Amino acid sequence: MSAESLPIAVLVSGTGTNLQALLDTVHGREAQVVAVASSVAGAPALERAAARDVPTEVFLRADYPDCAARDEALAVWLHARGARLVVLAGYMALLSEPFLQRFPSAVINVHPSLLPAFPGLHAIEQALAYGVTVFGVTVHFVDAGVDTGSVILQRAVELPGARTPEEVLAALRPLEHALLPEAVRLFARGALHADPEHPRRIVVDG
Ligand code: GRF
Repeated sequence: MSAESLPIAVLVSGTGTNLQALLDTVHGREAQVVAVASSVAGAPALERAAARDVPTEVFLRADYPDCAARDEALAVWLHARGARLVVLAGYMALLSEPFLQRFPSAVINVHPSLLPAFPGLHAIEQALAYGVTVFGVTVHFVDAGVDTGSVILQRAVELPGARTPEEVLAALRPLEHALLPEAVRLFARGALHADPEHPRRIVVDG
């Protein structure tokens, strides 16, 4: 790990291709993945973390009286691991406000649409059902809403002939795998700031 490496945690629930992109690009360079937490036992993403000797933990909703208690345990573990940025990479649970307050302006998410279009679950299916021809990816700060936080990076792709979620996902994957590490790099170098005249707008230095 380089001296300026930012300790980050990655939250997952599934396949973990975005986690893999982080492990293959920023890990050991601008950032160090110090923890991977999953909301789902046996998520393939956990194997990707273990293969790089990154500590993993599973936080099942069923093991706690409520979401707040689960999030509290999660936050305690992430803090103990030293995480200073929390990256949601296919994490399929909502985080409660007390969790977000423990990591102020330091939780980011990757979403497979051009927000504010198609937030929430099944974004690609929503976009196809709407009949759009331009699809895309957003990396944004996480607030208490569903995919409502300030936009950090977005990238679009024209797919006028797309008919299935699989073909859209295949086109979006490379965008996600480029944008999420890029957002982590920018965060790590302190290059992301809220515009004082329009706090929702994120200004990128340099
Ligand atoms: C990605 O499409 C991401 O945009 C969404 O969940 C998916 C996670 O994929 N939030 P993976 O587990 O990183 O492969």
